[in-house]
Amino acid sequence: MDEKSLKDQILDDLHRVHLEIGFFPSRRQYREYGKFSSSQIENVFGSWTSMTLATGASHTEGRKRREEVRGELAEKIRTDASSRREQRLSDPPFLASRILVISDMHAPYHHPDAINFLKALNAKFKFDAVVNIGDEVDQHALSFHDHDPDLLSAGHELDKAIKTLQELYKEFPVMKICESNHGSLLYRKGLHHGIPRVMLKDYNEVLGAPKEWHWDFEHKLQMSNGEFVLFHHSYGANVLLQSQRRGMSLVQGHHHTKLGAQTWSNLNRTFFAAQTGCLIDDFSMAFRYNKNNIERPLLGVIGIFNGHAVTLPMETDPVHNRWTGKILPY
Ligand SMILES: [Fe+2]
Ligand SMILES: [Fe+2]
Repeated sequence: MDEKSLKDQILDDLHRVHLEIGFFPSRRQYREYGKFSSSQIENVFGSWTSMTLATGASHTEGRKRREEVRGELAEKIRTDASSRREQRLSDPPFLASRILVISDMHAPYHHPDAINFLKALNAKFKFDAVVNIGDEVDQHALSFHDHDPDLLSAGHELDKAIKTLQELYKEFPVMKICESNHGSLLYRKGLHHGIPRVMLKDYNEVLGAPKEWHWDFEHKLQMSNGEFVLFHHSYGANVLLQSQRRGMSLVQGHHHTKLGAQTWSNLNRTFFAAQTGCLIDDFSMAFRYNKNNIERPLLGVIGIFNGHAVTLPMETDPVHNRWTGKILPY
């Protein structure tokens, strides 16, 4: 290889590196990306500086271009971050179009067909959000009332309740749950006996629930018609009044003998106030306290479809107390 051809090869290689990295390389950068050694360059050109002068490029130009590239990169990062932020802001909020609202299962004293009923509803309506109004577990043995000696111990009740809830974890891996008089008994007892909240396990740990099961005092969702709906265990027996006071649609549970939805309007806006009924086993001894009440529990749930509340009763055979297998919106 003669001196001239080596010189041309070095210049060609320098040009290649220049194109690849987007600016005229420094000596260190050429060592990293180029094919020729420093001594070969010095043998041909005398020095790195002479070589760069021979190419018509200069250190100043290279530095200037590097700074430009850095500036372009910084600008690109800024633009990307801001476009991501704008994208987040312009992302439509989650608008629930089909919400299932469950309440008052009182596991393990729930209706024997409650889980199958919920699975059948989910198969039919494919809900995109599920809210549990509370009393998901009964915890009779933990309650402030006398413990019925014919019922299970607190530990046994918890074991059985968890087995039931595991079915729900599989069917509904994401759920919002309202705190309630039965569901929150552990923390109510803690409060009563002066035990700080931080010393008690949280709901998910006690019940082995997925982290996407989220307990809170109340929940609010935006529906696909743009309106909001509030969920709470119970603000009071008159759900219509409670909904009107808050100026938004409301779903409550707790009142086992109340199932259904009422509609009300204010100027051009329409709202609903709904009670979920329950999913208890009325034949269980856990509800023996209620036997003298002429009003019987109503089994069912509420479905919210594009901002409209629909009652979904769980029809049972009055003799055998088993679900008929029908799904009856009315
Ligand atoms: Fe309840
Ligand atoms: Fe309750």
